[in-house]
Amino acid sequence: MPDGRTIYPVPSLPHPTGRRGPFGSLMANSRAEAFRQHDRAGVASHAVPAAGAPLPETLFADGRTRVDLGRNNYPGLAGDPQIIGAAVAALRRYDTSSSGSRVLNGTTRLHLTLEEELGDHARTEAAVLTSSGINANLAVLSTTGAPGDVLLVDTHAHASVHAAAAASRATVVRFRHNSLESLVSRLERLDPAAGLVVVIDGVYSMTGETAPLAELAELRDRWSARLVVDEAHGFGVGATGRGAAEAAGVDGRVDATTIAVSKSLASVGGAVQTPGAVTDGVRASALRYVFSAANDPAAVAAAPAALRVLRREPERMGRLRANGDLLRRVLTEAGPRPPPCPAAAPRWPCRRGTTTPPWPRGVPPIGPGSTPTPSATRRCRGAPVCCGCPSWRPTRKNSSGGPARCSRRPCGSPGRRPRAESVA
Ligand SMILES: Cc1ncc(COP(=O)(O)O)c(C=O)c1O
Repeated sequence: MPDGRTIYPVPSLPHPTGRRGPFGSLMANSRAEAFRQHDRAGVASHAVPAAGAPLPETLFADGRTRVDLGRNNYPGLAGDPQIIGAAVAALRRYDTSSSGSRVLNGTTRLHLTLEEELGDHARTEAAVLTSSGINANLAVLSTTGAPGDVLLVDTHAHASVHAAAAASRATVVRFRHNSLESLVSRLERLDPAAGLVVVIDGVYSMTGETAPLAELAELRDRWSARLVVDEAHGFGVGATGRGAAEAAGVDGRVDATTIAVSKSLASVGGAVQTPGAVTDGVRASALRYVFSAANDPAAVAAAPAALRVLRREPERMGRLRANGDLLRRVLTEAGPRPPPCPAAAPRWPCRRGTTTPPWPRGVPPIGPGSTPTPSATRRCRGAPVCCGCPSWRPTRKNSSGGPARCSRRPCGSPGRRPRAESVA
């Protein structure tokens, strides 16, 4: 260490007995190695701003200026003086930490205010806060259903939706992305007495597609199923900011909505918006609520301040949509220009030595390496860490047990499917 501090290596175990090392898969993780290399190479998604928060155009510590098209600060409120003022006032009044679980001593008037305002905005009876959007999905889905019930999950739903469904005691059945036909064919095969929950994202973060919510609401009614929508990317964007279900005119037929307040509400945390009796159940039994420290006061104060600005200034959402349309038009006019995808290009995680990305100098978009969905189809969103395929469609393992390969020609590079939960 430059400052002379001693760092202890991972200690060796006292008795070498031939036992496998349980940290081995972490220490020899190929994706972690790729990240280390990206870090050293100054790859965009691993670069750090020279100072302060990232801006749309930011000077990074490696001396390069980059345009960030991937930040989720949709209405641009994260640096707004009104929101910062609310967060600073909360820090002074409520301290830096809640230092306790909501069910013990972590609940303050701030937490209750945010829950009331989120419930009111969603026009649901209630809302319950969680420490992240991921934990909102985990809180509601892990406690939903009983053995014999079925959660039907879109294959492209967020990784946390799949992880949360897997934590439920119900059976999980996946249906093809946005395919009503696939959903119906599964519904037809299920026990007519089973409790049914259809779980989707309102807006799919990697592609910007919306779910066919009007049709899904019809199926909900026809099959007496519950409909749960992850509105992480729809919240704060649609007409009055309630999400994709509102845009489809069916928000009254969604049984529970999860949101991530890190997207449009200039904060961090999540919430489940649903009838009061359901939120009571979540408060009573969801691990993420009961045993986790309450959201920190500054973040809890920032979110309602942002929500009030959004409600007062709906033109922000209009401007956001106009910006989205403009970007889409400009990119469409520019035409598809995927970076070269020769077989020699390294896949991510790289197994062939170099991980230097193929982006031309000076055009490093910022975004995650692959979609956080555990489905077989992986899409890159301007990913500086992939080989350049606009989509990664790994083949199944070949019959000799070899690794999956990218099925896009002429790429064919070996690739490994990232495990869903480990992709941020
Ligand atoms: C659809 C979706 N749900 C949930 C989350 C998780 O939100 P958070 O970052 O607050 O955990 C994300 C994050 O990007 C997301 O895209």
